Amino acid sequence: MSTKPKYVSSALLFFLCYHLFLHHSQAQIVSRPVTEGYTCTANQSSYPCQTYVFYRASAPDFLDLGSIGDLFSVSRFMISKPSNISSSNATLVPGQRLLIPIPCSCNSPNATMTISYANLSVTIKSGDTFFRLSSRSFQNLTTYQSVELVNPDLVATNLTIGVTAYFPIFCKCPNRTQLQNQVNYLISYVFQPSDNISAVASLFGVQAKSITDVNGNNIQPFDTIFVPVTQLPVLSQPDVTPSAVTSVKTERKGLIRGLAIGLGITGFLLILVVGFSIYRDGKLKKRVGRKGDEEKENQVLYRSKQGSKKSKEMEVSLMADVSDCLDKYRVFGIEDLREATNGFRENSLIEGSVYRGSINGELYAIKKMKWNAYEELKILQKVNHGNLVKLEGFCIDHEDDCCYLIYEFVENGSLYSWLHENQNEKLGWKTRLRVAIDVANGLQYIHEHTRPKVVHKDVKSSNILLDSNMRAKIANFGLAKTGCNAITMHIVGTQGYIAPEYLADGVVSTKMDVFSFGVVLLELVSGKPAIDEDGNVLWAGAGRILEGNEEEKARKLHEWVDRELFLESCSMESVVNVVTVAIACVHRDPSKRPSMVDIVYALCKSDDLFFDISDDGSSAPPVRAR
Ligand SMILES: *[C@@H]1O[C@H](CO)[C@@H](O)[C@H](O)[C@H]1NC(C)=O
Ligand SMILES: *[C@@H]1O[C@H](CO)[C@@H](O)[C@H](O)[C@H]1NC(C)=O
Ligand SMILES: *[C@@H]1O[C@H](CO)[C@@H](O)[C@H](O)[C@H]1NC(C)=O
Ligand SMILES: *[C@@H]1O[C@H](CO)[C@@H](O)[C@H](O)[C@H]1NC(C)=O
Ligand SMILES: *[C@@H]1O[C@H](CO)[C@@H](O)[C@H](O)[C@H]1NC(C)=O
Ligand SMILES: *[C@@H]1O[C@H](CO)[C@@H](O)[C@H](O)[C@H]1NC(C)=O
Ligand SMILES: *[C@@H]1O[C@H](CO)[C@@H](O)[C@H](O)[C@H]1NC(C)=O
Ligand SMILES: *[C@@H]1O[C@H](CO)[C@@H](O)[C@H](O)[C@H]1NC(C)=O
Ligand SMILES: *[C@@H]1O[C@H](CO)[C@@H](O)[C@H](O)[C@H]1NC(C)=O
Repeated sequence: MSTKPKYVSSALLFFLCYHLFLHHSQAQIVSRPVTEGYTCTANQSSYPCQTYVFYRASAPDFLDLGSIGDLFSVSRFMISKPSNISSSNATLVPGQRLLIPIPCSCNSPNATMTISYANLSVTIKSGDTFFRLSSRSFQNLTTYQSVELVNPDLVATNLTIGVTAYFPIFCKCPNRTQLQNQVNYLISYVFQPSDNISAVASLFGVQAKSITDVNGNNIQPFDTIFVPVTQLPVLSQPDVTPSAVTSVKTERKGLIRGLAIGLGITGFLLILVVGFSIYRDGKLKKRVGRKGDEEKENQVLYRSKQGSKKSKEMEVSLMADVSDCLDKYRVFGIEDLREATNGFRENSLIEGSVYRGSINGELYAIKKMKWNAYEELKILQKVNHGNLVKLEGFCIDHEDDCCYLIYEFVENGSLYSWLHENQNEKLGWKTRLRVAIDVANGLQYIHEHTRPKVVHKDVKSSNILLDSNMRAKIANFGLAKTGCNAITMHIVGTQGYIAPEYLADGVVSTKMDVFSFGVVLLELVSGKPAIDEDGNVLWAGAGRILEGNEEEKARKLHEWVDRELFLESCSMESVVNVVTVAIACVHRDPSKRPSMVDIVYALCKSDDLFFDISDDGSSAPPVRAR
């Protein structure tokens, strides 16, 4: 918690920095009262953002973190942490106050409206109506009018059970002025009939005036208002022992049976099991904790194939794993994928086991996996950031005993191929710098804004993809791990990018991603691959570039920096700044490496040096032809 001020200021810097290179400044209009939602300006630079809603536990369905987490597509821990609840399986009392994280973005549900909301998916169950779900389950954090607007294809009076509806949860991101005034979040709060503004202000530890500044004076009961705060309020929570209600409920749903089956299947896996949780939802859902490493996972798979009975059980259990994620993703049929990829023909292959395919006119990247997709699914369902490749859905192929993950298709291929394979077009310095900042932002997000933290473990230029605007997205979370300072027995990663301490001791921490990111920076500056044909790693010589007097430095830089950059006579100051960051990242001692927060800041500074504030980055040609 001592890092809090740093964290807050870095969030501020992050947004300011974003702002700097987007150069869009738009007034934030809070027009109220609203029924369809709160308008936003699509090009306002602070969108999207992570924010929070204030929610009250309520009987009968929302008295445990599991069901509330399901409603908002977050884990129990992601609610318990900001809400100051010590245990993720605590029993809640009706009215208990919670803070729930949501991703907030500015959307255009139809041609004439742009409103800000978190787009949450809900599977319609028997008895559900838009009104009921918005006013009860979501406690008026949205309105049925807005739900109708966002779901033009669904007929509100005739909802089919099992169909997916999108619920726009009202939210706002702070604008530039607010960020400058240390307003880091605008928490969505539904004004209650018994509330008055000063009571709400004191609940959040802010001045009443700051609430009316944002929301006006005419606040009605059940309006969603936005409370501007610098940091999350610390909620005082009733002292309840975790207990009875959850387990009674579980029993009632007959899930003890599920537990027994689960224990049976995974008996020999128990040592490896880290977490084990039971989900209710009418259907038998179960999750096997994550296994120590991939090798063991494969062994398990192999063993499971020995006996057909075991294989069947294995499939059941892994099916259950992914079924946790079912409602968050689109499920594709294997036939659609076959058609999209010409039966997984060679000419659809992008690389490895990743295919390109067009489904209903939309291009996707389709990755074939054995049953080890669970880790990646579990991690991707928690992350949502513009600099991370988005998972769109998945598909299970029972015949072939494998599954597929379907991602957004990122048009311009990998950074690796741009740097080391494409001889005709070279990336300019401005593009390289922007790629560096994009990747740094993506990593900062997974390190700082996910709970538990996610470590990617395989950051490298071939896992960085460039979209049509040459903006970077991090791909391939196949090796990613949640949690820090874990020790793995089985070393994964890519030669040339692996941090020395990980090779030596198997220590997993965010600092290993920092190391790999440093290598990517060196690649961007030098244009050389991370490891050459003779097996020499690029980072080994990096430390020496900036040693010696000015003359020596200049000479070494000249030798080292990609000649392409001299041809475009880019700012050497900016290049040196990036080299300095890269060298700090590849420090042998992980504790001496900067955090991604520091890195984003340092890179943005370099961005600042280089860009003329008046020119709009997005319209610049991304590449230089030779
Ligand atoms: C932002 O969008 C609005 C309308 O959507 C437009 O009028 C304005 O020019 C845009 N601003 C910039 C900087 O692109
Ligand atoms: C930011 O929002 C506040 C409150 O809604 C508003 O008063 C202010 O004008 C906005 N500032 C900018 C730069 O959009
Ligand atoms: C909401 O999300 C779904 C899937 O992520 C997407 O298909 C839909 O277009 C989104 N709707 C809006 C209005 O943002
Ligand atoms: C968009 O939605 C609003 C609110 O429902 C409606 O008034 C408007 O006519 C719609 N515009 C279009 C082009 O459908
Ligand atoms: C939501 O608002 C409606 C009135 O519009 C009210 O009757 C209902 O009780 C509210 N729901 C909650 C959970 O406060
Ligand atoms: C309701 O929807 C179903 C299928 O979506 C359709 O068959 C039925 O005719 C609809 N009923 C009405 C009254 O529109
Ligand atoms: C606001 O409500 C609190 C209690 O909920 C009460 O003590 C206070 O007097 C109220 N203030 C005003 C201005 O009504
Ligand atoms: C959390 O809640 C407890 C119990 O209400 C309270 O004593 C404590 O001060 C709160 N804050 C933190 C940071 O734990
Ligand atoms: C929470 O649940 C886990 C299993 O789901 C259990 O092992 C743990 O003891 C529970 N914690 C408390 C405090 O009850």
